[in-house]
Amino acid sequence: MQSLVVARSMLARSSALRYNAVRTFASSSSRLQAVPTEKPVLQKEFKIYRWNPDEPAKKPTLQSYTIDLNQCGPMILDALIKIKNEIDPTLTFRRSCREGICGSCAMNINGQNTLACLCRIDRDSNKDSKIYPLPHMYVVKDLVPDLTLFYKQYKSIEPYLKNDNPPEGREFLQSIEDRKKLDGMYECILCACCSTSCPSYWWNQDEYLGPATLMAAYRWMADSRDSYKEQRKEKLQNEMSLYRCHTIFNCARTCPKGLNPAQAIAKIKLELAAE
Ligand code: SF4
Ligand code: FES
Repeated sequence: MQSLVVARSMLARSSALRYNAVRTFASSSSRLQAVPTEKPVLQKEFKIYRWNPDEPAKKPTLQSYTIDLNQCGPMILDALIKIKNEIDPTLTFRRSCREGICGSCAMNINGQNTLACLCRIDRDSNKDSKIYPLPHMYVVKDLVPDLTLFYKQYKSIEPYLKNDNPPEGREFLQSIEDRKKLDGMYECILCACCSTSCPSYWWNQDEYLGPATLMAAYRWMADSRDSYKEQRKEKLQNEMSLYRCHTIFNCARTCPKGLNPAQAIAKIKLELAAE
């Protein structure tokens, strides 16, 4: 009996020791985690286009801001948010999803139209980063372009399924091959990077539809479920809407989603030529 009591007390002592050992390990590991790793300051200058509609007589300027990249996220949008939150709340830009889906943070960064949330900050602190609104558009304020005409043009191509005899009581079926024809077009997020990088669009945007809208037009022409292909083609059969495209390819080069509007435009031209 006595030996049983001794054995029990030894067991209790050894598990208490084990528990303490675990506690000691856990607290020392959290002590380790709690030590912040100091990163050196990495100052980077951003020069950002500013224009305020409330001061119309004042010319647009490039305003300079310097932030520590080691206290900032990796993308240009992170830098803009940091500047707005910590330095200048009047800085104005659009953003929503911060992951390349909504298309609202499109702007011209270091000479290229792209999405601020997908564009990494160049960590070379000797070079500044220049940020402008999308080119050749009216500016609402700072980095916010007026996209009224762009959306009006998009609306004009009726970007939705049109069919007078949809199947009754079941889904609108499409073969795998037909569905594949929409790949590379349906992914467009309407950021307008392509259209605003196109010289033909710069000079003729009141009549030329531009790459984003034309690719959307072809996306519906190529849809096997749509029965308005002929009418859609008819609408583009004029001098300006489509044929101002001179195959410059800026659109395909700049698209942040890796799409190729120039190819879609070429396919429309081919289809119209085959008539
Ligand atoms: S094609 Fe690319 S660049 Fe043009 S609007 Fe669509 S996503 Fe933006
Ligand atoms: S914030 Fe939505 S695409 Fe950049």
